[in-house]
Amino acid sequence: MKKFTFGTPETFVPSKFCDGFDYRETDVKYPAGNFFFKTTPSGCVLEFPLEDDCRIWGFGLQLKQFNHRGRKLKMDVNADPATPNGESHAPVPFFVTNKGYGMYFDTARYAEFYCGKQKNPAFGWNRGTDAAALSEGGAADREEDLYAARREDSVWMSVRIPVAKGVDVYVIEGETAGEITAQYNMLAGGGPEVPEWGLGMLYRCYTGWDAEKIKSVASYFRENGIPCDIIGLEPGWHTHAYSCTYRWSDRYPDPDGFLGWMKEHGYHVNLWQHAFTHPDAPFHDAIAPYSGDWLVWGGLVPDFAVPEARKIFADYMREALVEHGVDGFKLDECDSSDNTGGWSFPLSAEFPSGLDGMQYHSLFGTLYIKTLTDALGERKTLGEVRNLGALAASYPYVLYSDLYDHRDFIRGVVNSGFSGLLWAPEFRSAHSKEECVRRIQAVVFSVQCLVNAWNYDGIPWVVHECEDEVKELFRIREGLIPMLKDAFEVYRKTGKPPVRALCMDYTADPATWDVDDEYLFCADLLVAPIAAGGGDERDVYLPVSDEWEDYFTGEPVGNGKIRVKTAGIPVYRRKK
Ligand code: GAL
Repeated sequence: MKKFTFGTPETFVPSKFCDGFDYRETDVKYPAGNFFFKTTPSGCVLEFPLEDDCRIWGFGLQLKQFNHRGRKLKMDVNADPATPNGESHAPVPFFVTNKGYGMYFDTARYAEFYCGKQKNPAFGWNRGTDAAALSEGGAADREEDLYAARREDSVWMSVRIPVAKGVDVYVIEGETAGEITAQYNMLAGGGPEVPEWGLGMLYRCYTGWDAEKIKSVASYFRENGIPCDIIGLEPGWHTHAYSCTYRWSDRYPDPDGFLGWMKEHGYHVNLWQHAFTHPDAPFHDAIAPYSGDWLVWGGLVPDFAVPEARKIFADYMREALVEHGVDGFKLDECDSSDNTGGWSFPLSAEFPSGLDGMQYHSLFGTLYIKTLTDALGERKTLGEVRNLGALAASYPYVLYSDLYDHRDFIRGVVNSGFSGLLWAPEFRSAHSKEECVRRIQAVVFSVQCLVNAWNYDGIPWVVHECEDEVKELFRIREGLIPMLKDAFEVYRKTGKPPVRALCMDYTADPATWDVDDEYLFCADLLVAPIAAGGGDERDVYLPVSDEWEDYFTGEPVGNGKIRVKTAGIPVYRRKK
């Protein structure tokens, strides 16, 4: 891996805030002469050629698109990423290719990546559109012929970084896309340390329930042999949630009694919150001087890049919550919204640390996690967060979304592994028994077993009469935990993530390059979920360089493309 510095990089970049940042320079084969850099009145631009059959994967939690070749992506933090234009809960300016290299751009700006544009050779580019090689389109009769004639080779990538007059680019090389990604993750300090209980089932309770009702649901789990390790409380535990007071509401007349009961019954407790601090929050006045110049839902936006703000917030969370038994948090709303009401602070916001709104949006999730890590002290956790960005591999927090398309959620699982992110294809609600079972199948074979029933006044599988099927799935999950634990240990030590696209391990096999609905799980499983509403059949590609067996029956299934019909979830094991 080698860092190339262009122009004058900014001070506030992700590496500055990444505690485990560990850059070890080695030589790379990538030719420095490929890069063309310029500053512009609005920022800077870096351009370089792409190989003709170069695939481009990554850019963070991308729900809508897998191979980004030919597309424009903007690293825009957005809570409701509705299109494949790069915006995301967790955009990451890192991509990896099938050509033995990847690049990380160390910027907190909303960089724009044009992943394949033709340059005009008249301007002296050493590699660009060769006019003589234009395909013979002719006068096409059919639309598909017309568009098939459009050239996609001889292209360049153009990266525009607003505001900044320079950037550090880390060129990372490796034999497979997986090796390159692992090095990117090690640059960020490696994967997180995750407690075993964090890998068990997390049930987030309906927002309208009170302490007694939640205790009765927790008892139902125990009495019916439904494995559950974590109870999550949603808005309703605060006296005021938007913005947050971080004080128990009258639905919890005896918080210590409630937390003690949970502990006695083997539960960990995870509390929902966001950082927008209500005037009734006990530390509101103390944190006010260390907050930004805009409010969100009437609450302050603490500047977690300032040590004082972090200390005030963390001290309160430790003394009021952690020391009373809370050991997990769901850090909500730290992304931003353009499509759902436009809440959150503007890009032009100012913060006491000197960060502006755009930079703070890119770093908010990371800084917020660091604050809660201070609050938790020695206590290990696996929490949830709705924004992350670059160099986030070492944080034990899983991303989630209010979007809910199941196919997109599965693509999210596959894509998350390219960028040092963890993602849960959460179960939230279902319209039918089939949807309930299909969604829980995918949840069970993911890094976090999340039932986020925050808006569901009932137990979904009781309502849909599939308790037996679901119970069996949660038992399967229990059996996966030792394997997941090992996979997280490997992630921590080597940067190899527990969930990987097929092309990460099998980059030499072109048949894996576009597979965005199957993934490798832990050391040697291949999971091919059937999305809700997708019937009971699907094609599965099993990489041909290995032999595979059915995970549940042990039956050999060979390799290559197979057709599967099942009400269950297709899972295979790579034979040793
Ligand atoms: C959303 C979050 C949901 C749920 C809800 C409660 O922002 O994504 O998972 O927590 O808030 O209001």
